[in-house]
Amino acid sequence: MKTPSEKRSELLELVTQYGSPLYIYDGHIIERQVNRLKSAFGGFDHKIHYAAKALSNLSVLRLVRLLGCGLDAVSIQEVHLGLKAGFLPDDILFTPNNAPFSEVEEAVRLGIHVNIDSLSALRKFGQKFGDTYPLFVRLNPHILAGGNPKIQTGHIDSKFGISIFQLPEVEEIVAEFKINVEGLHVHTGSEFLDAGVFLQGASILYRAAASFPDIRFIDFGSGFKVAYKDGDVVTPLEELGKQLQQSVAEFEQKAGKKVQIWFEPGKFIVSDCGQLLCTVTTVKKTPTSMFLGVDSGLNHLIRPMMYDAYHTIENISRDGGNHQIYNVVGYICETDTLGYERSLPETKEGDVLAIHNAGAYGFSMASQYNSRPRPAEVLQWKGVSSLIRERENLDDLLKGQVEFPF
Ligand SMILES: Cc1ncc(COP(=O)(O)O)c(C=O)c1O
Repeated sequence: MKTPSEKRSELLELVTQYGSPLYIYDGHIIERQVNRLKSAFGGFDHKIHYAAKALSNLSVLRLVRLLGCGLDAVSIQEVHLGLKAGFLPDDILFTPNNAPFSEVEEAVRLGIHVNIDSLSALRKFGQKFGDTYPLFVRLNPHILAGGNPKIQTGHIDSKFGISIFQLPEVEEIVAEFKINVEGLHVHTGSEFLDAGVFLQGASILYRAAASFPDIRFIDFGSGFKVAYKDGDVVTPLEELGKQLQQSVAEFEQKAGKKVQIWFEPGKFIVSDCGQLLCTVTTVKKTPTSMFLGVDSGLNHLIRPMMYDAYHTIENISRDGGNHQIYNVVGYICETDTLGYERSLPETKEGDVLAIHNAGAYGFSMASQYNSRPRPAEVLQWKGVSSLIRERENLDDLLKGQVEFPF
């Protein structure tokens, strides 16, 4: 077990080796999180499909597969990444939202489980495939849950899923084309805190399941919240597992059959494993604030600006010292504050900051905004730290551009 100071030196060495800014992922934290899920839900037959959108580097996908997870993909490109990472088609669920129907057709060709989230796509599916290919249906339970409004997906104004009020229309289309509905799906929102909300979504699916005799799977989505700072309230996973065990048993008894329960966590699995390491380029004192400017910004980690997310920031170049209050800001020509009013040891230009909980929706939402290349990524697993994505350069910014024939 490494001491905090050994861990900091190791991270600083990686920055020396691979440059700054740098995304670094600890595979053992991914393993710990997967094991926590398996243990919390161990009281019933379940399967974890890792939500690729959270962090889709091929090596991370491979690790998650080795840890026994399936994959939740929201684009046909994520499906292909999953296949490349070695997932079997049967271990992938494709849940597109407003994707062209050709992606659904391609997923069927590849033998992937498909989840449909509109009446129009359901009808097209029926017309094209009838009873020849099983299907999941994503329902919108009209429950308000989730942290920031932008990650609430199961409420009545949300674009996701088929309204639970339209269940009779789903039944009509399913009957007309004899569609084999093998699964029902719901995802109420990310970062929910109350197990009761999750169970409410579950009971809506149990009731809906009565309409579809071929159901073998019920997918409760995800949204398990992790701590971003000390004292943060998180989803009570173990408590949720216990309550779900009871509700699944009751459902199975009433339905007179067994089902497998699916989950598709992203943030829970990879948030804590990741840190974005960046270097202080400017210490700027103004009449009102002390700014630490760094060689990264919302182009690499958009969560603070997009979701008002709080990410703990640590100065890994200093071990103690007098603390000061800083606003940590990026190098993008845009207000891109990474952390407001953070107490850090007195910081100098050249110091390296570690932004915590950067594994989920960090690199995967990164862009080349301001024509800034994206950082390199490193994965640590079983004593090896290995580069899993090269830092981009000017050639990457020019790739695919075609010059106008002036
Ligand atoms: C359908 C679906 N499944 C799973 C997830 C993963 O959610 P989380 O990262 O909160 O676990 C999301 C997140 O947006 C989602 O929309």
